[in-house]
Amino acid sequence: MDWNDRFAASGVGRPGPPSVLVGREDVVPTTGRALDVACGRGTVAVWLAARGLAVDAIDAAAAGLALGRELADAEGVSVRWIEADLDDGLPVGPAYDVVVCQRFRDPLLYPAFAGLLAPGGLLVMTVLSTVGDTGGRFRAAPGELRAAFDHLDVLVDEEGDGEAHLVARLR
Ligand SMILES: C[S@@+](CC[C@H](N)C(=O)[O-])C[C@H]1O[C@@H](n2cnc3c(N)ncnc32)[C@H](O)[C@@H]1O
Repeated sequence: MDWNDRFAASGVGRPGPPSVLVGREDVVPTTGRALDVACGRGTVAVWLAARGLAVDAIDAAAAGLALGRELADAEGVSVRWIEADLDDGLPVGPAYDVVVCQRFRDPLLYPAFAGLLAPGGLLVMTVLSTVGDTGGRFRAAPGELRAAFDHLDVLVDEEGDGEAHLVARLR
């Protein structure tokens, strides 16, 4: 089933922080610019906007973006929704204070993620991992995120239960 079909079969979500930041929400600034890459139904994007950030949110699935728009309207916040294929790369433009990418993995984009950060900017990543799982071609090998972003100040580096999480700041 493709993502548009999945979103068409699901309802509007609820705003919430990236899962790795539950209980750590204070690391996210309340001003500045944020980007949510592969935003899906936009639940994180809307949470970031409600926190006070100016948010851009990208996904290829129009049905997910439509649910995001509905959620943003219900919450009374504004998000710039961008329908784009990440196979064509990340957007070029002003730097972001927060970049989130949760449960979408493309190691070819890792250098571009770091390049999008403003000084002091926060990167929040969650990908599927082979750690604590049987494996598969979409999953990160152990240490993949740490190796890719070791030049940042790493605040959180966790792997287990089939997911890898990294939270890091550009110096
Ligand atoms: C597992 S969902 C994660 C959604 C959201 N980040 C979350 O955590 O709820 C993966 C998302 O990646 C998007 N996606 C997959 N391949 C993509 C591509 N090449 N370009 C843009 N979005 C893509 C899908 O449309 C889907 O919304």
